[in-house]
Amino acid sequence: MSTPHPTLETMAPTDPVKAVVHPDPYPYYATLRDGPPLAWNATLRLWVASRAEVIETLLQAHGALRVRPAAEPVPRAIVGQPAGEVFGHLVRMNEGAAHQAHRPALQRALAGLDLQGAHATALEAATGTRALPLSDALFSIPLRAVARLLGFGDAALPRVDGWMRDFVACLSPLSSEAQLRAASVATAALMARFEALVADAPAARGTLLAAVREAEPAGTPPSRALLANLVGLLSQTCDATAGLLGNGLIAWRREPAAREAAATHDGLQMVVQETARHDPSVHNTRRFVTEPVDIAGTTLAAGDAVLLVLAAANRDPAFNPEPDRFQPLRARRRMLGFGHGLHACPGQALACTLAAAGLEALLGERRAEVERLLERGWRYRPSVNGRIPQFD
Ligand code: HEM
Repeated sequence: MSTPHPTLETMAPTDPVKAVVHPDPYPYYATLRDGPPLAWNATLRLWVASRAEVIETLLQAHGALRVRPAAEPVPRAIVGQPAGEVFGHLVRMNEGAAHQAHRPALQRALAGLDLQGAHATALEAATGTRALPLSDALFSIPLRAVARLLGFGDAALPRVDGWMRDFVACLSPLSSEAQLRAASVATAALMARFEALVADAPAARGTLLAAVREAEPAGTPPSRALLANLVGLLSQTCDATAGLLGNGLIAWRREPAAREAAATHDGLQMVVQETARHDPSVHNTRRFVTEPVDIAGTTLAAGDAVLLVLAAANRDPAFNPEPDRFQPLRARRRMLGFGHGLHACPGQALACTLAAAGLEALLGERRAEVERLLERGWRYRPSVNGRIPQFD
């Protein structure tokens, strides 16, 4: 009998970046966890961390580890472009004063959100995306919901959604020239739209925009940094929440416990939470060393880069018992896919609410189509950190 030809399904990923879009990267992640706490990857030229405890330590070492390399605060490909300006202001991409200038307002506004209202808004957004292919609706449902929560009117939602998809497409090292050009146009349009929205004084009560601006003295003109961080709320939503929603659909197909739980409103929330742990949309993040630091017995030198494999940490048995089992009702679920420490995601509760509403809508209004597409299979969109399924 001949040996079957190895396929992507049967071949282990060759590195932790390629693993992100592998059909099943989790056995490979287990081998990473069984290796040294910090392993040097000579091909990628960075340290790799995969155990939960080590990743938590790294994410708390704020002074020595930064979110961007000192020599390249903005990716070279977008420096001097509108997208580069926005990127340079994002709290996600900054430390110190630039981080603290806007993080508290964003965090307060997101923490104060009425999640029931956000759920209802996402259901409405889903109705507006019924004509879109499923793979686009994964993005458009959460994006349009957040745009609506910020204060955009219904008529503006499709355009804001389209510009945001173009903006996010330029943030990957895999971006093409055409994507970079489209991102410039889209970013300029988004900044202008946000400027006009903010100029509608006072911001409509109850909107996320009003909540973000609450602490500012009335009549204060918005800074470019604030506008950029409003754009940032949409960009942080985009790929990550699309991935969570898509991976939730896959869990629903594969996992009997997910199917059972998905029958109720609360159960759907649990399916989303467990998906965010078991098969998250953000598989890794990076940190850059600015001064020598000892972590888990390894000395990292200034200039070193570290890849933190958050998706491996979620399945660390020292972090979650029986980590490979999909358990919507898991007690004391722990996860690192929303980060940890100073830069932890302030949008976690909102993201899970939007994904649960998205699942509710897609498994209701579009169930037959969803079943058919899931039956045909899926692949993952090219990415170095995001796991977002594409259904054709
Ligand atoms: C499933 C969806 C999401 C996932 C998996 C996710 C994941 C993350 C992660 C891992 C980080 C930290 C990255 C790091 O420290 O290297 C982060 C930061 C952030 N996220 Fe999310 N996110 C999601 C949705 C959202 C949403 C819906 C919003 C807001 C509308 C949001 C807003 C932010 C912001 C503003 C930051 C930067 C925080 C800071 O640097 O202080 N995220 N997110």
